[in-house]
Amino acid sequence: MGMEFIDLFNQWASSYDDTVAGKDPEYREVFKGYEEMLGRLAELSVSPVMEFGVGTANLTRKVIDQNKVVLGVEPSSEMRRIAKVKCPEAAIYDGNFLEYPEMIAPIRSIISSFAFHHLTADEKVEAINKFYDRLEQDGEVIFIDTIFKDEAHKFSLIKDAEKQGFQNLAQDLQEEYYPYLEEIKEMFVKAGFKISFEQLNKYAWLLQAKKGV
Ligand SMILES: C[S@@+](CC[C@H](N)C(=O)[O-])C[C@H]1O[C@@H](n2cnc3c(N)ncnc32)[C@H](O)[C@@H]1O
Repeated sequence: MGMEFIDLFNQWASSYDDTVAGKDPEYREVFKGYEEMLGRLAELSVSPVMEFGVGTANLTRKVIDQNKVVLGVEPSSEMRRIAKVKCPEAAIYDGNFLEYPEMIAPIRSIISSFAFHHLTADEKVEAINKFYDRLEQDGEVIFIDTIFKDEAHKFSLIKDAEKQGFQNLAQDLQEEYYPYLEEIKEMFVKAGFKISFEQLNKYAWLLQAKKGV
């Protein structure tokens, strides 16, 4: 799996919480309603939970506060360091969506926020098949991330970013592996999931993929 983003995340870790709080105007709309979105995802999760791309543990904290067990996976050492300070109760392991330590707990929910777009299309398919195998029969994948409704939506978001002078955001939207709605839907359906989506802000969608229904 390409880990080209890790240096970037190690550098971003110390100011990450300022970004999601809206202090960086370029990413304000991307993270609009961040706390509420994460709260919603946490509410939907069922313990024991596996979380990928924990970051600074903002979602982890909310899940733990609901007395649920979380097994977290995060590849950036700096993000893990901050996460462990903010959320000492959680087990947070070095790893990524495809490679992580063996854990024996029966997983009922696999959750992630703003991280699945780091995987290429082939890696997403591989990860989704692994989720299916890892989840209990009534288990669910619940993600929040940027998804493009279609090609026209992608171009309009890039144009909007450029018009506002948000060059970093415009570049991210072109270079990271944000999926199209139909594409990601097909990946989950082919793996055997029943999937539903809800748009949460201009960029972010809630994705719920249920196994065994
Ligand atoms: C934008 S942050 C999101 C952090 C947190 N989930 C949140 O909602 O604030 C993306 C996180 O995904 C992690 N990440 C990057 N590539 C990953 C991969 N292949 N597998 C799992 N996590 C990854 C990064 O290190 C970073 O912590």
